[in-house]
Amino acid sequence: MTDEFKRSSLSFKIFYFSFILCGLFLFAYLMKEFPIERYRDVVLFITLIIVADTAQIALPRGGAYIYPSSPIDLAGIMLFGPAAIAFIEAVATLFSEVFIQKRPAMKIAFNVPLLVMTVGLSGIVYWSFGDPWTGLESPRFLLPLFICGVSYYVINTFSISTVIGLSDRKSPLMIWKQNYMWTFFHIFAFLPVGAIIALIYLKAGMWTLALFVIPLFLARYSFQLYIDMKEAHINTVAALTSAIDANDPFTHGHSYRVSRYALRIGRAMGLSSKDLEILEYGALLHDIGKIAIQHDILLKVGKLTEEDRRTLEQHPSIGADIVENLKFLKGAAVLVRYHHEQPDGKGYPEGLKGEEIPVGARILLVADAFDAMTSDRPYRKGLSLDQVADQFEQYKDIQFDAEIVDLFCGLVTAGEFSVIVESDPTTAIYESLKERL
Ligand SMILES: [Fe+2]
Repeated sequence: MTDEFKRSSLSFKIFYFSFILCGLFLFAYLMKEFPIERYRDVVLFITLIIVADTAQIALPRGGAYIYPSSPIDLAGIMLFGPAAIAFIEAVATLFSEVFIQKRPAMKIAFNVPLLVMTVGLSGIVYWSFGDPWTGLESPRFLLPLFICGVSYYVINTFSISTVIGLSDRKSPLMIWKQNYMWTFFHIFAFLPVGAIIALIYLKAGMWTLALFVIPLFLARYSFQLYIDMKEAHINTVAALTSAIDANDPFTHGHSYRVSRYALRIGRAMGLSSKDLEILEYGALLHDIGKIAIQHDILLKVGKLTEEDRRTLEQHPSIGADIVENLKFLKGAAVLVRYHHEQPDGKGYPEGLKGEEIPVGARILLVADAFDAMTSDRPYRKGLSLDQVADQFEQYKDIQFDAEIVDLFCGLVTAGEFSVIVESDPTTAIYESLKERL
């Protein structure tokens, strides 16, 4: 048993073992009905799923995967019933995880029952409608197929989110929302493909399945291009952030810390995965406009003159103008532009008030101020968490958004907000951005 498992919480262990047990019971129950006479179909579908799983691809948001075998599972459910497809998935998953993907035993022990439960239960749902195939000439089988697809999706994604949530001591619902909610629409892609595979198999024979191999690998190739594009975006943001840090040695690592604080607040507010991505890019690049400000103003220790202040206050607009030239950073550019606006309208560059300021920019203002207050400066030590919370309370609704301050103070009181001490921000930025791949 691995150390990771030993260290895990009791609730994780209970869920992990009960889930495996449920999978085993379901498998034993289904095997009573195993259609032994269909052994040729079973062998063919096992091979097909193993081949399809080699084209499995990680999606660029929070570790979700596209499983090209999902339509094949659905076709198997329609053609052979839950018992055969549960057996097919158990053998195929075991083979591909042990010999091809070489996953750790702890994951395999969970993934095999996961697939058995997914296809077994959704198969039972499909066949509980009677014998939908007899009405194949009419669209009568579409309703059971749709409900079966939704069950497949719900069982699969909720089980994975729960096990990840319990293992990482995070809310399973939050994990599901961030990683899987948006993949719901995949159902509408794999349902028709599954139905077409089943229909062709039934009418034209098993050799026609070869026709699906080429489109499957073409689809995988397009996804790979998409992932590569995301990686290029991440490299661009990481390079720009390093340039900001190199420009101002006093605030080294500031952009990285602000991005982590902003994400913590954004997650607590329940922002969507897409909005969190925009927030992270905006936070990392919020001070990029300072590259254009003269060093003698930027690094001045004494009081700024009125003219210096006006020059410095141009940095949000300059930064936004730089960033918005990159199409994928359009959303982040808005946050860069407004990260010094205040609820009382006394911020800059436009003097926006309250709700006129985009919510991401309001979060950035709090995260930016939090890092400035907690960081040590040559002339003073950083403030403590309680002192920072007092400052935010004092300037609530004047400099800082009241709702965000309340949420922030709640996180501090609950011990869920701590100061980041980061020794190598450049690596950390890249690593944290890569979490999205
Ligand atoms: Fe700034």
